[in-house]
Amino acid sequence: MIRGDKMLLKDKVAVITGAASGFGKETCNLFAAEGAKIAAVDYSEEGAITAEDIINKNGEAIFVRADVSKEEDVKNYIDEALSKFDKIDIVFNNAGIFVPGKADELSIEDWDKVMDINLKGVFLGCKYAIPHLKDNGGVIINTASAAGLIGFPDSISYAASKGGVVSLTRSVAVDYVNDNIRANCICPGTGRTRMTEEVLQNEQMKEMFLNPIPMKRFAQPIDIANAALFLASDLSSYLTGVALPVDGGWTMA
Ligand SMILES: NC(=O)c1ccc[n+]([C@@H]2O[C@H](COP(=O)([O-])OP(=O)(O)OC[C@H]3O[C@@H](n4cnc5c(N)ncnc54)[C@H](O)[C@@H]3O)[C@@H](O)[C@H]2O)c1
Repeated sequence: MIRGDKMLLKDKVAVITGAASGFGKETCNLFAAEGAKIAAVDYSEEGAITAEDIINKNGEAIFVRADVSKEEDVKNYIDEALSKFDKIDIVFNNAGIFVPGKADELSIEDWDKVMDINLKGVFLGCKYAIPHLKDNGGVIINTASAAGLIGFPDSISYAASKGGVVSLTRSVAVDYVNDNIRANCICPGTGRTRMTEEVLQNEQMKEMFLNPIPMKRFAQPIDIANAALFLASDLSSYLTGVALPVDGGWTMA
């Protein structure tokens, strides 16, 4: 785990939401291996396991249970990160949910739920982290989706929320560039996580999702974590406002 002076995030403090599973969990592990102290945030208590695993490998981490769509919870996870680690350098607003449905089918409740978690959750994460990032400069990474870049079937609220994350990220990037804050988002293609577990068990659906991907494979969590590491580190010091597709070529094909 220890890579000495070559670690890309040595002594940085990273707040990562959606830390119990999938892309968020993998990113917690990778950032910790690169020297970061991790505030692992999730609605699920399983986020505690992510933090414990890091501590067991001699890293530093805390788990904070939070619903990212609730303002009080977001204020609380920012406060907890600050009280444990004294600063915040990196925020990865990654928690999200998927609910299928076309415009004439989706309930208002499901529309609101997806928007509250996927878009308002990212807004709140930015809102309450930015005053602290302003102290030393910092990095915001948001998880959007390929569904926010192209017409995506049967997912009206999900696609709209992720398109919103792309736009929100660009606005944050221009608003805080003079505070030395960089904001970028990742647009994953279909990945193998809990979110897609059920749908990818269906062979017909699996083929439907695989076919448009030139690389002919789904994203693994490490593919997204590696992109997050690039955006979190000084390797991307001249990038802000970017929506980075990590999708095996799907959205360019
Ligand atoms: N898997 C894919 O194919 C795919 C593709 C594009 C984008 N994404 C995006 O990647 C992100 C991570 O998803 P994943 O694929 O790792 O899925 P996942 O289901 O494995 O992980 C999502 C995590 O977010 C947490 N979460 C959900 N709602 C929450 C809330 N209200 N408050 C706090 N935590 C909450 C869940 O408990 C879970 O741990 C999401 O934003 C998702 O939309 C996923």
